[in-house]
Amino acid sequence: MSRPNFIKDMSLAPLGRRLIEAAEHEMPGLLATREKYAASKPLAGIRVCGSLHMTVQTAVLIDTLKALGADIRWCSCNIFSTVDAAAAYIAAQGIPVFAYKGETLEDYWNFTLETITFPGMKGPQQIVDDGGDVTLLLHKGFAAENDPSILDHAESEEERILAALVRRCLRERPGWFHQVVPEVVGVSEETTTGCNRLYSMMAEHRLLFPAVNVNQSVTKSKFDNLYGTRHSLLDGIVRATDVMIAGKTCVVCGFGDVGKGCVASLRGQGARVIVTEIDPICALQASMSGLEVRTLEECLPLADIYVTATGNCDIIKAHHMSQMKDQAIVCNIGHFDNEIDVAGLHAFPGVRHENIKPQVDKWIFPDNHCIILLAEGRLVNLGCAMGHPSFVMSNSFTNQTLAQLAIARREYTKVGVYVLPKILDEEVARLHLGKLNVHLTTLSPKQAAYIGVKVEGPYKSDDYRY
Ligand SMILES: NC(=O)c1ccc[n+]([C@@H]2O[C@H](COP(=O)([O-])OP(=O)(O)OC[C@H]3O[C@@H](n4cnc5c(N)ncnc54)[C@H](O)[C@@H]3O)[C@@H](O)[C@H]2O)c1
Repeated sequence: MSRPNFIKDMSLAPLGRRLIEAAEHEMPGLLATREKYAASKPLAGIRVCGSLHMTVQTAVLIDTLKALGADIRWCSCNIFSTVDAAAAYIAAQGIPVFAYKGETLEDYWNFTLETITFPGMKGPQQIVDDGGDVTLLLHKGFAAENDPSILDHAESEEERILAALVRRCLRERPGWFHQVVPEVVGVSEETTTGCNRLYSMMAEHRLLFPAVNVNQSVTKSKFDNLYGTRHSLLDGIVRATDVMIAGKTCVVCGFGDVGKGCVASLRGQGARVIVTEIDPICALQASMSGLEVRTLEECLPLADIYVTATGNCDIIKAHHMSQMKDQAIVCNIGHFDNEIDVAGLHAFPGVRHENIKPQVDKWIFPDNHCIILLAEGRLVNLGCAMGHPSFVMSNSFTNQTLAQLAIARREYTKVGVYVLPKILDEEVARLHLGKLNVHLTTLSPKQAAYIGVKVEGPYKSDDYRY
């Protein structure tokens, strides 16, 4: 049933190659890891599938996993996040890849299924997941083979599409999920929301294979989520709108790692930033960083730009948007598109819609005031720009590669959610210091003994918060 690939345009492959070569210069940790393991090929013959934004940086990760010997299939984890030139570059190497910018939801889930279906109807042995959609499909298919009635409770359009796909699988490949799930050795999960899903499944005793929480590595969440966002939020808003940020009033919903990056991004431009939070600790942090902390309702008459960064649902509802200032810009940078109630916007009585350009839409309310919605409520930095820059993704993807190697070494055999050891986290950081001309101080044995660590690290306890 499987196709060799599904991409937009193979003629973009040379452009993809040039972009990837440029990115490699900014990805020292990932390339050093590739170099270290390329000769021994520790992933030789292992079926690895990935569902992670098919960007230029992800292409460097795929090249790395390939150099380590993996048998790879890939798709994007968002309908808008593919860089078509990067997908073409991967396809041109004969790696099955299913991704184009602007996928339909049907294509998205078909591509996820294609990605987990290796030749001979085999399933993956290892998974690189971002947001958990491969993990979800495998678990949903497995559960539906036990009890197909679980597919009757779909609430959103996307859930209905996923349920229809799984029903088709039950007809066309009966028993397939029970056949392939036991062969999954582990998944490495990239993002906060995907990890939250894993912990929920674990707590409900539903998780079927071991998982590595890559997001928990300090060199992932305290870098990608923060510094990556600080760069790419602005990139997304500016490419989409060209609006001047300086002097504007901006609202950032959620002051976690991503929210902190968003605030820094907007403040760096001279915006006045207001934060909404539900957690008193994060609210106090925001306040003591000099930010106002208000409810969303209080912000509605004031704000020009809204960014959701909570990883939670129902943050900006249609009735909120109906009360915003004329031309207010609304976007989301959290993983899923349920932070902004786009379905409610479609259903709002008397609302009109005008597409300005791809991923930029004007929604006009009956009183003729409008809001500008970016990337249809999907993550703006990948929908309207190219995602985080290479250097920060090198940190994230070095962690991903180390997690895949640990899974291949069968370091995590019991079902559970694991975190990479601190010494590896420090190693990932170390691999990036040279590029920034950082000169590290070396502990003397006396100093090391005094603070109770080894000269070579790890330098902090596992619960240190950075
Ligand atoms: N777009 C990207 O490139 C990118 C990169 C990394 C992570 N993410 C995603 O961004 C989201 C946030 O990630 P994070 O690491 O910052 O998570 P986090 O848990 O550190 O932060 C989320 C914050 O939102 C707050 N929050 C929850 N519900 C809220 C509500 N109703 N109103 C206001 N605040 C609320 C929480 O208290 C928390 O402080 C996740 O979905 C994650 O997967 C996106």
